Amino acid sequence: MSSPIAFDYPQQNAAGATCTAQAWAKTPPQLHGTEKAAVIARIKQLLVEKDATLVAHYYVDGDIQDLALSTGGYVADSLEMARFGKNHAAKNLIVAGVRFMGETAKILSPEKRVFMPDLDATCSLDLGCDASNFAKFRALHPDRTVVVYANTSAAVKAQADWMVTSSCALAIVHQLKVEGKKILWAPDRHLGRYIQDQTGADMLLWNGACIVHDEFKAVELEILKAAHPNAMILVHPESPQAVVDLADVVGSTSAMIKAVVEGSATEYIVATDKGILHRMQQLAPNKKLIEAPTAGNSATCKSCAHCPWMAMNGLQGILDCLENASGEIFIEEPIRVEALGCIERMLDFTKNHPDLLAKAQHGFVKNIGAA
Ligand code: 13P
Ligand code: SF4
Repeated sequence: MSSPIAFDYPQQNAAGATCTAQAWAKTPPQLHGTEKAAVIARIKQLLVEKDATLVAHYYVDGDIQDLALSTGGYVADSLEMARFGKNHAAKNLIVAGVRFMGETAKILSPEKRVFMPDLDATCSLDLGCDASNFAKFRALHPDRTVVVYANTSAAVKAQADWMVTSSCALAIVHQLKVEGKKILWAPDRHLGRYIQDQTGADMLLWNGACIVHDEFKAVELEILKAAHPNAMILVHPESPQAVVDLADVVGSTSAMIKAVVEGSATEYIVATDKGILHRMQQLAPNKKLIEAPTAGNSATCKSCAHCPWMAMNGLQGILDCLENASGEIFIEEPIRVEALGCIERMLDFTKNHPDLLAKAQHGFVKNIGAA
């Protein structure tokens, strides 16, 4: 069962837009000089005055990541963003990332007000897994445990037994397999197939994909590797199998950062959204980081390994959240309550199984196994 992913972005390649082969999105105006400094200063002041904290994903603009860290907020992968938002005492959360991240924060913390710089910032996996089609898929397989990736709507999470992120999916599915469970997985087919390969679990996969990771090209990656024979190849498991097959380490965004910080190699080819390079380079200043190729002879169009929806996050949008209460997330209470169970199950599991999580978070190291 699959669902075609439709994107209606007729102005592909429009100036000022971030574009992949399948989608483009408006990008906020870049601020410079004194104007930028003034907006940052105002945001810092309002974060204190409004009892707010800024939580950012590794893929958003580097200025936003720096601002989150310098104001006592957080920069993390989707699992740790959820945990931080839930545990933080602030009354207001500003989530710089994509829609499902803001929704997860709201589901976990209904007493907090959650804002996002641009509510149109979505995700191709979320768009490609419509809740009513998913309900039909689920109804066909009532004997299966329903595991959904974090990159889904609240209405899809409301139908799931488990939510997982890329940093804990392997550990949780492995555990479900040990318990003899058969799994219905949605929506990322590449991540699902990777987990199926690693765990041997019986998994039925929804046919979704991330338009950013789907663009990485194995042929060009091999050419790049030949030019940098000592480089370690790091791949996010949302990438196609041929790309994953070339990886030295496959893992979530946090696992990839860990691999660079702790790795003995001096060069790393990084196959994920290029926004991650900002934090990676800060944490490993002496390592050479090389973007994995998306374009070339075998590419379908010029693409840039940058999520068009993550690129919608800008400083002005954050200021609007604080000044005008714009971009607030609302979720209908019955859906929120139903979606909460699968997220709490994941948070409890990851808290109670730090050993299993550490293995999964370290990533799969070729020829060694989960280290
Ligand atoms: P992580 O959970 O690894 O942060 O990934 C989220 C995501 O959207 C990857 O494209
Ligand atoms: Fe979704 Fe891919 Fe963007 Fe991550 S990078 S938010 S999976 S479209």
